[in-house]
Amino acid sequence: MTDLNPQAKQMADESMVRNLDAQARSIWPQEVRLFGRYALPPEPLILDAGCGTGEGASRLAELFPKSTVLGIDIIDHHLDLARSRYAGLASRLKFEHQSIFELRAADRTFDLTVCRHVLHSIPYADRVLAELARVTRPGGYLHLIPEDYGMLHFQRGTLDPRDFWHQVPAVMGPATGTDLFIGRNIFGILAAMNLEQITVDYIIVDTVRVPRETFAAIIEAWRDGYAEPIGDLTPITREAAVAYFDQMIANIRDPHGYALWMVPVVSARIGSA
Ligand SMILES: C[S@@+](CC[C@H](N)C(=O)[O-])C[C@H]1O[C@@H](n2cnc3c(N)ncnc32)[C@H](O)[C@@H]1O
Repeated sequence: MTDLNPQAKQMADESMVRNLDAQARSIWPQEVRLFGRYALPPEPLILDAGCGTGEGASRLAELFPKSTVLGIDIIDHHLDLARSRYAGLASRLKFEHQSIFELRAADRTFDLTVCRHVLHSIPYADRVLAELARVTRPGGYLHLIPEDYGMLHFQRGTLDPRDFWHQVPAVMGPATGTDLFIGRNIFGILAAMNLEQITVDYIIVDTVRVPRETFAAIIEAWRDGYAEPIGDLTPITREAAVAYFDQMIANIRDPHGYALWMVPVVSARIGSA
């Protein structure tokens, strides 16, 4: 049977808490304008599916001051952290232990269903998308960040990170039953679901737009959380993975260096039929 949460250990690691913080600081400033496109009611009901430590859910609650936001996740430590960090918003920001494979909400509940940085890490993304669409009302929206590990670009040093990014996701995805290229594959899944107004935008996390230390913190967290499973599951050893990540970090920190992570943001509207 396919493990429904093959990255459980990495998701629960302290490096992931650091990563989610750095990712939100890198991505949200460009992502926030995209929410302005959605025609939402004055008091929208919003779901953040796979909310982690609440980075996205809390920002959504602040962005839409009359909204009610529900964040769900399966890691209680993340949920506890989210509840304590955002206690000030608790009257309209709740966090619950639920799985994205089997949400407790009735059909057609939410005006906006958000799922950031989750779909690449689980198998059966199509099933999860069907579940997210089920709980979203007709005329409501899905807002998704489906990561794609073919969209990272670094300069060559002693090592060439292109070799790393060419090998690792191609092997780790099938080894864990996940699609680490879901960023480019999700369009077809959404189109087959007969969703409307599918959009694809890119957040550009690069050394020009994002502070170098913030970008470096993402790659440091990936090194600390993922070098071990890369060593276990791919032809690249743990030590080699650390060396590749260290070089990427040095590339980002080099004041003359340039590095880029393209982060897809995909949205769609649930049809009224
Ligand atoms: C990389 S984190 C992203 C967190 C958050 N969305 C953000 O943008 O900061 C992925 C999250 O998905 C959660 N997750 C994985 N499988 C899940 C499932 N079946 N149901 C709910 N959450 C799940 C993990 O526990 C983790 O907190």
